[in-house]
Amino acid sequence: MKRYQSGWTTGGVVALTIVIAIAAAGVTALLVNIFERKSEAREPWVRLVEVNENTTDPSVWGTNWPRQYDSYLRTAEATRTRFGGHGGSEALPEQKIERDPWLKRMFLGYAFSIDYRDRRGHAYMLVDQEQTERLTKPQTGSCLHCHASIMPLYRELGDGDAMQGFEASYRYSYKDLNAKLHDMGHAHPVSCVDCHSPDTMALRVTRPGFILGIQALAEGDAPVPHLPTVAKWREGSRSAPYDPNVDASRNEMRSYVCAQCHVEYYCASNMPLTFPWSEGLTADDVETFWNNTTFDDGQRFFDYRHAESGAEILKAQHPEFELWSQGIHARSGVACADCHMPYQRDGATKVSDHWVRSPLLNVSRACQTCHHFAEAEILARVDAIQQRNFDLLQRGGDALMDLLDAIGQARAEGASDEQLRPALELQRKAQWRLDFIAAENSMGFHAPQEAARVLGEAADYARQGQVAALRWRGQPAGAVAEVGGQDVSPAGDEEVPGSNGNGQFQ
Ligand code: HEC
Ligand code: HEC
Ligand code: HEC
Ligand code: HEC
Ligand code: HEC
Repeated sequence: MKRYQSGWTTGGVVALTIVIAIAAAGVTALLVNIFERKSEAREPWVRLVEVNENTTDPSVWGTNWPRQYDSYLRTAEATRTRFGGHGGSEALPEQKIERDPWLKRMFLGYAFSIDYRDRRGHAYMLVDQEQTERLTKPQTGSCLHCHASIMPLYRELGDGDAMQGFEASYRYSYKDLNAKLHDMGHAHPVSCVDCHSPDTMALRVTRPGFILGIQALAEGDAPVPHLPTVAKWREGSRSAPYDPNVDASRNEMRSYVCAQCHVEYYCASNMPLTFPWSEGLTADDVETFWNNTTFDDGQRFFDYRHAESGAEILKAQHPEFELWSQGIHARSGVACADCHMPYQRDGATKVSDHWVRSPLLNVSRACQTCHHFAEAEILARVDAIQQRNFDLLQRGGDALMDLLDAIGQARAEGASDEQLRPALELQRKAQWRLDFIAAENSMGFHAPQEAARVLGEAADYARQGQVAALRWRGQPAGAVAEVGGQDVSPAGDEEVPGSNGNGQFQ
């Protein structure tokens, strides 16, 4: 022992250094080995069965990737939160229109007033579509774009070219295309092959509607700070269109796969399925897009004519991607999958939870990885956001009902369409905003401040419309512009959509 205390010789230092170096190399090798094992475990490439572009049956993929498949199957389970996650295997979900009675009157004249329910898990997307009473009105084959594992059918329709098949699909009736899907053996809800390349398992998007929509967004000039590769593409040569499967980052793909379906769209038998993004992703941008769209006969675009008032109405559909795009999470790079498909540990393996559902049922993994507050506190914060949004929605609904009452009264007093035009235009604007937030499924959470802005405008336009209807008699053209054409947008646009700028509504 004494020898060691007697001081260090040069030879001793060199020897010790060598020993440490060898030990360090050993530890490094061990770490590399562990890391390799971990990544092996995370991406198990042991393929017991082959999967290819036509393997739409998820159970086949499940042989290779049982952990993801097991959690995917759980989307059939019944879950419930205060505002979301309704579902169950035994019965169709609770009627949304009974919870918010104004919804029914708002949708009069549209198939949605017949049947509009709370959504449920992915496992049901095809059967729920096949069963909805909205199908008592004939529907287009485009409906299947987001409700089935449809790519092989598109390839079949397009002689091998999926994009061509997609472009033809809107002309088929839902019934015919759905029968074809069943005949071909592809009647599955969203499946592994829709989000993953069968060769590499890398995330990818397949849906033509999304690919065309995001291209149009990139080619426009709306700011998209939350999608950095779009900005990068815009600065490049633009020799090829923006291609999410080539240009997007892995993090963006973790939202794009969901944006194949959770978006606003137009789907009917008179034009191909359209994602309306060339002007941008806000409620106002999308409204501008629709206002600039005309049907083949030159008629301005609308989804339905309101059965009570006669207004040409725009219907909004689940704009989750669009609203998320306006929020702080998107801006901070937090993707849909971070909250709805969080990682879970399975031994040394990290598995993405394919039980896509409300994150409020999974706060520890969905939120507490980033927010270090107690679960109860996080839930209370979400509830506060959702409650405020719900209250604003009801106020907007009340205002819209008052507008409809005023229009009805004016008609009873003999008002003409021409005299009611300002009120009807304001109904279109108010209802678009109200529906944009009502149809979005997070009850305001995805972008609370933006949702409140949109609902504030909805109530304001509805009240302006009510005033216009009450004053239908003495309304000179100038006054119309003052009431109906008032610009409330913070950007101070010169012109209000729907107005030709001369105080006359088109
Ligand atoms: C920061 C976390 C977070 C991100 C990111 C996020 N969401 Fe959500 N989402 C939520 C919360 C919280 C709710 C409300 C759930 C509830 O009320 O039960 C929700 C609700 C939903 C719902 C309705 C769920 C239900 O159970 O009814 C859908 C659909 C949805 N989000 C889709 C998306 C899509 C698509 C994206 C990406 C474009 C996205 N979300 C991004 C947290 C997130
Ligand atoms: C192919 C289209 C499609 C894709 C892709 C898709 N969804 Fe869905 N999603 C649906 C449909 C359709 C429903 C409603 C099913 C029903 O009610 O029968 C739904 C339902 C949901 C729900 C409600 C679940 C519940 O239990 O109530 C959530 C949450 C959700 N999706 C989130 C996501 C997220 C996050 C992604 C991306 C990881 C995604 N979805 C990808 C079409 C899709
Ligand atoms: C762009 C994708 C897309 C298209 C096209 C689409 N859906 Fe959906 N659909 C969804 C998503 C996402 C949900 C889940 C979110 C929700 O319910 O708001 C859903 C939910 C539903 C539901 C369950 C909830 C409800 O509203 O009752 C039915 C039924 C339905 N769709 C029928 C249809 C029909 C019929 C068509 C054709 C007219 C259609 N869908 C076209 C994406 C789409
Ligand atoms: C709606 C899109 C979607 C569908 C459908 C889907 N996945 Fe995934 N999957 C994802 C996302 C998002 C990730 C996370 C990828 C990442 O972070 O790079 C993922 C990750 C994975 C991974 C990598 C390891 C992990 O867990 O993160 C495997 C393996 C996988 N999925 C298998 C499957 C299988 C098998 C199916 C069908 C049963 C399936 N996926 C269906 C979106 C999807
Ligand atoms: C990957 C990280 C990440 C995850 C996961 C995440 N957040 Fe956040 N969250 C953020 C960031 C970043 C901000 C912006 C504020 C900041 O920088 O601290 C934020 C802000 C918020 C805010 C305040 C902003 C607002 O919109 O009012 C709330 C509330 C919130 N998060 C709730 C949640 C909930 C609930 C979940 C789970 C469903 C969740 N977050 C998941 C990173 C995350």
